[in-house]
Amino acid sequence: MIPLSVPLLEGNEWKYVKECLDTGWISSAGSYVNQFEQMVADYTGAKYGVACMNGTVGLHIAQILCGVEAGDHVIAPNITFIATLNAIKYTGADPILVDVNPGDWQMDLDLLGEFLAKNTSQKDGLTVLNSTGKAIKAIMPVHVLGNIGDLDKLMAIAEKYKLKVIEDSTESLGSFYKGKHTGTFGEMGVFSFNGNKIISTGGGGVMVTDNEELAKKAKHLTTQAKASAMEYIHDEIGYNYRLVNVLAAIGVAQMEKFPDLLRNKQKMDGFYRSELAGIGDIEFQSVSPDVKANCWLFTFKTSKMRGLLAHLNENGVMSRPFWMPMNRLNMFKNDIFVSENNHSDAIYESCISIPSSAGITEEQMQEVVKQIKQFYANTK
Ligand SMILES: Cc1ncc(COP(=O)(O)O)c(C=O)c1O
Repeated sequence: MIPLSVPLLEGNEWKYVKECLDTGWISSAGSYVNQFEQMVADYTGAKYGVACMNGTVGLHIAQILCGVEAGDHVIAPNITFIATLNAIKYTGADPILVDVNPGDWQMDLDLLGEFLAKNTSQKDGLTVLNSTGKAIKAIMPVHVLGNIGDLDKLMAIAEKYKLKVIEDSTESLGSFYKGKHTGTFGEMGVFSFNGNKIISTGGGGVMVTDNEELAKKAKHLTTQAKASAMEYIHDEIGYNYRLVNVLAAIGVAQMEKFPDLLRNKQKMDGFYRSELAGIGDIEFQSVSPDVKANCWLFTFKTSKMRGLLAHLNENGVMSRPFWMPMNRLNMFKNDIFVSENNHSDAIYESCISIPSSAGITEEQMQEVVKQIKQFYANTK
């Protein structure tokens, strides 16, 4: 089976992990944690990085730090991985789900702008949704598949309605909008280093911010809110969310190789785009000229998605459908869904992701393309 998206571990991973094991520094204290968060902050251009156990908990903490509380609303796209929505629900807030654009599959900001203009009022310095009377505290754009929407427009909406921006940048390490890295536009950005991401620590995350106060609080909250180095005195409800040294050691080795891995991904994207253009009714995700995407996971649209999915998986090419739209999942079906044409459904019904590992070989990509061509030739 040609895998969908597996890590490439060809650098100093063994050496650094062995060092952790040899010295006993495997847990949440240790120099690799600091080094890893510094490397991610430096790469993205953020002032501070705070490592955590995964992207989901990073999104949870970021919302707490941005003042999201039970009974608030947080805006998120309807097409995202479940973790974005779970993290909103952990805070006790309810999402406002916004449909996505049919071309780039990112949150439809024109639709959102119209919705906010028609359905909110200003009360005590907050934007309140008229139908629920609840405050909308934050907006969580998701840089879906490492692609990026119109961040100028998003930041203007956030400013107008006084919304804190928390970027779900979990899929977008290596992606830039007008030369600025994702995760650095809003109050906080969160990266994931889950097994399928562009680099991986097995499981892990880093929150980035330019705000020193938020960075300090993020570290405090993720380490059980311990207020004294020696004494067991804790000054609020904290979380055991800190990344451990042995995983951060893998992260440091992965970051050292990141420029190579990113180049591989972009090469892979170029290969598929040129080889698959004009095959069947394949339609690629559109990428704005303002965006330099990391090309994390190659995904395209086709009306024959279900058939192609079966053919590829039966013929040694691992492929997957896209996320079911959030408004269709039981837990969120009663939440607000802002939509005119339900592009989310059309995207879900037609998108398929194909093998995209940073270590994918040319022969493997040729096999993927061969199988796709074979499928369309047989289904004419
Ligand atoms: C869009 C999105 N949000 C959040 C997450 C959560 O990250 P993690 O798996 O590290 O918790 C992921 C990845 O898994 C993701 O793809």
